[in-house]
Amino acid sequence: MARSKAIKKQVKHLLGIQNLSVLEAKEILKESQNFIKLNRSGSKKLDVLRGKTQINLFFEPSTRTQSSFDLAGKRLGADVMSMNIVNSAIKKGETLMDTAMTLNAMHPDLIVVRHQDSGAPNLLSQKVNCAVINAGDGTREHPTQALLDALTIINSKGKIEGLRIAICGDIKHSRVARSNIYLMNMLGAEVNVIAPKTLMPDSINQLGVKSFTSMKKGLESCDIVMMLRLQNERMQGSFLPSKREYYEYFGLTPDKLKYASKDALIMHPGPMNRGVEIDTKLADDINVSLVKEQVELGVAVRMACLKLYCK
Ligand code: CP
Repeated sequence: MARSKAIKKQVKHLLGIQNLSVLEAKEILKESQNFIKLNRSGSKKLDVLRGKTQINLFFEPSTRTQSSFDLAGKRLGADVMSMNIVNSAIKKGETLMDTAMTLNAMHPDLIVVRHQDSGAPNLLSQKVNCAVINAGDGTREHPTQALLDALTIINSKGKIEGLRIAICGDIKHSRVARSNIYLMNMLGAEVNVIAPKTLMPDSINQLGVKSFTSMKKGLESCDIVMMLRLQNERMQGSFLPSKREYYEYFGLTPDKLKYASKDALIMHPGPMNRGVEIDTKLADDINVSLVKEQVELGVAVRMACLKLYCK
């Protein structure tokens, strides 16, 4: 027992950007750069994690995060097992903690977890002996999304420090917004958040951002415009009169993009609601949209995280 506690003390987890130091964030970003070239090459396989076992545990749907963690682990040589939650004992009423203890008994080296409850990965990390990476928990954090967003900005703008970044849309329910606010502030950007009053958290200004309810005012001089999905699955009650009206006032269109800097670039973590938070042509315009780059660099960032946290 004493031995297992001592080992546990040395295990590092990636649970959120809020717990990360600027040095740790920069180390992940630097390590990620090494994997971009590898991922574009004909031979993508390394044996950095040979003999290690990675379990992906996704309690919420995912395309980008789950597939990129899956690919990332395989490209580093790990044995990767993605739990099929739908066919698991969770459907018979087994709790998250019992599931965690069960998987822990199989000696994984790292668990990647996405869960609908804020704080679930933190709780899980206290119950297992391996490293835990948060792949998105409730409305709290999505740290690897913010890290891949930071890498995308650095690789297209050359820096983050001194940039003005707008995060627009459903701030209230967005873990992507929260992780990005922490990370962009930490790396020296100025952050504007733009949302209708109903989708703006009351305490948002305590996070070191400027808040706006007008796209015209909030986008002024912004270098990056990050659009967010309406998180309908987390909304209890009615937050908006209609999607059409939301698009009218808060959807990003070529006309609204003119309020930002002349060379502003657009981002979206996906999945996108085309015609709700973003104009469909703008989302696909390779001259301004970084959406594809975000997905590509997501694999590199997750490879770096697996390498650094799977000890
Ligand atoms: N951005 C993001 O988390 O996408 P998925 O839900 O597809 O993983």
